[in-house]
Amino acid sequence: MRPVGKAIICYFSGTGNTELIAKGYAEALRRRGIDTGLCRMEDVLNGKRDADFSDYGLIGIGHPVYGFGAPRLAETFALQLPAGNDMPVFVFKTASSPHRVNYSASNVLICRLSNNGYRVFHNSLLAMPCNFYVKYDDRLNKQLYRSALGKLELLADEIAAGSVRELRVHPLLEHVLRRLYVWEERVAGKTFAKGLRVGEDCTFCLKCVRNCPVGNIALEAGSFTFGADCLLCMRCVYACPRQAVKATRLRGSVVKPFTGGLRLSKLLEDPDNDGCYVTGRSKGYYKHFIRYLLDTEQQCGIRKE
Ligand SMILES: Cc1cc2nc3c(=O)[nH]c(=O)nc-3n(C[C@H](O)[C@H](O)[C@H](O)COP(=O)(O)O)c2cc1C
Repeated sequence: MRPVGKAIICYFSGTGNTELIAKGYAEALRRRGIDTGLCRMEDVLNGKRDADFSDYGLIGIGHPVYGFGAPRLAETFALQLPAGNDMPVFVFKTASSPHRVNYSASNVLICRLSNNGYRVFHNSLLAMPCNFYVKYDDRLNKQLYRSALGKLELLADEIAAGSVRELRVHPLLEHVLRRLYVWEERVAGKTFAKGLRVGEDCTFCLKCVRNCPVGNIALEAGSFTFGADCLLCMRCVYACPRQAVKATRLRGSVVKPFTGGLRLSKLLEDPDNDGCYVTGRSKGYYKHFIRYLLDTEQQCGIRKE
């Protein structure tokens, strides 16, 4: 492996979870002597930043999982990059579940990078609070966040050493999941955007217009319009300071209140939240978290049992 002095982490984050992890990775790599910067994919796609990263010795690419795939913005970003010339790349994703159905989420992106001369050697998945349909208990949110921060230290060791990590999934399962992704991508986003409305609490701060990663929100003749290009990233809904952006279609997809993303840092410091939701005896939906959480907690010294 070529010596890595400088790294850049390019990420997309709808509601802040992936951003927290990208920042965590950057700090972890800096502690390992790698000068690491951050770059939002949307800034490259909107022409605010150059996509030439040839000065760097390592690139990180991070995204949330949407419908078992990557947001199309991340897949488009991969196409914008110049030839990689064997540049090493680590890919990471955040999802609301560590289940293997999410393992193949970055595969189209990885394929695009590999076809363009990038050497993707490390692929990881970090479970974070759910921002879509399911409201997790805040104790679980804290537990997930704490584990993700601990896990990324271990992953940063591997990345700095150039160790290979793959997330394998059966090709047939991957094929089925990709079909579901295409539905989410083509139908759900449009349906959601058609039903978005701005309520009376709006102060016209225009944060939603400025923040939409694909420029899908506009203010025309005093009223807001939502185009059909919606990524379903939920940023306009959760980031509105007055909670004035409301979903009238796929209404159940909005998690209230969403205590993931940047609000997570506060939870970490809450003395009344012990962050111990999933235990070895958890049942039902939460059963599949046991191995991921308890293994990580033990490896990182968060839980000693
Ligand atoms: C449209 C949409 C689809 C999602 N699909 C999945 C999924 O397939 N699997 C999963 O585990 N989480 C899924 N999630 C949850 C997010 O991946 C998870 O909360 C992620 O950490 C959000 O990252 P962000 O805050 O950086 O946007 C989905 C979220 C959204 C908004």
